[in-house]
Amino acid sequence: MEQPLFTSLPSFSIAHPSIEKALIHRPRRNRQMAAIRGLVQETHLHPSQLIAPLFVLEGSERQLPIASMPGIFRYSLDLLLKEVIELYEMGIRAIDLFCVVPTEKKDAAASEATRTGNLLQQALMRLRQEVPDMCLMVDVALDPFTDHGHDGIVNERGEIDNDLTLPVLAQMSILAADAGAHIVAPSDMMDGRVAYIRRALDQAGHSRVGILSYAAKYASAFYGPFREALHSAPKFGDKKTYQMNPANIREALLECQLDEQEGADLLLIKPGLPYLDVIAKVKEMTNLPVGAYHVSGEYAMVMAAAQNGWLDANRIFEECLLSMRRAGADFILTYAARQIADYLHKR
Ligand code: PBG
Repeated sequence: MEQPLFTSLPSFSIAHPSIEKALIHRPRRNRQMAAIRGLVQETHLHPSQLIAPLFVLEGSERQLPIASMPGIFRYSLDLLLKEVIELYEMGIRAIDLFCVVPTEKKDAAASEATRTGNLLQQALMRLRQEVPDMCLMVDVALDPFTDHGHDGIVNERGEIDNDLTLPVLAQMSILAADAGAHIVAPSDMMDGRVAYIRRALDQAGHSRVGILSYAAKYASAFYGPFREALHSAPKFGDKKTYQMNPANIREALLECQLDEQEGADLLLIKPGLPYLDVIAKVKEMTNLPVGAYHVSGEYAMVMAAAQNGWLDANRIFEECLLSMRRAGADFILTYAARQIADYLHKR
C-alpha cells in the first residue's frame, strides 16, 4: 500500500502513486532493454574517430614486435602498406607515422629527419598513392633521430635549445608535406613552433597542410613502451624542461590558447586517461577540435593485465576510449585502434 503524498487528501481506493516512487524508478526504466539504452546513449565510439599510430622500419618483409606492446609491430614499408589498407577496410581513416631510425643514422643534428628521400618521405609517397583516402599524419619531433634522444637540438650549454630546434622542425614538416602528408603533428613542445611551422608550410606552398598540435603534452612516465619501440629514451636528463608538469592544468589551457593563436588546426592532450579533466577544460575553452592521445603506457598496462587473465582488454579499451570521448575528445590516437574497430564491428 502506497503512502498518500498529502495526508489531508481524501484516500482513494487505488493506491495513490507518490512522486517519490515515480522519480526513484525513472533511471532504470531507461536501462531496461538494449534498444532504449541505445536511444539514450550520450557518447559514441566509432572507428572514424580513431587515429592509428604506426611505426615504420627500413627494409622489406620485416615485422618486429615490441615486447611491452603486445599486438603492435614495427613494419617495413611493404608490410606497413598492407596494414594501412586493412585499417582502412575496418573504417579507420587516419594514421600517424613514426619512424624507427637505426642507431648509426642518429646524430646530434637529427640529420636523418631532414634528409630528402628519407624513410618517412618514402612511406608517405607510397601510402598517398596506394591509399589516397586515408588521412596521413606525421609526428614532428627530433627524438627518434637524435643520438641523445631529446626532442630538440642540444646547444653547447647542454640545454634543449628552443630556437635552434624550430628550423629543423619546420624542415621536417616541409619534407612531410612535400611527400603527401595531410597533417603534421608537432610533439616536441618547443615554444612558438606552431607559428613557425605554419609560416614555413605556407611559404613552401603547403597552405592546405594542417597542424595537429600536441598542445598539452605532459612529462609522463607513460611513454616508456613508445621509447622502447623507437630506441629513443633520452640518454641524459629528462624532458621536464619542455614537457609539462603533470600537476598543472591552467598551464595546459595557456599552451592550448597559444597554439590556437599560432594557427593550430587541431589540439591534442597527451596522455589520455590520467588527464580527462584537462580534456574537459580545454574543450570548454576552444572551438577547435580536441583530441586525446591514449599513449603506449596506457595500452601496455591493459594488455599486461589481459595477458594475465585479469582484465578483458576489449571492454577496458572501449571504456577508456569512451571516457575520453565523454570528457570531450573529438578524436583519439590509440594503439588499440585496430583491435577496437574489430570489436565494434563484431558486436
Ligand atoms: C615524440 C613522441 C613521444 C610520444 C609521441 N611522440 C615520446 C616522448 O615524447 O618521449 C609518446 C607516445 C606514446 O607513448 O605512445 N616526441
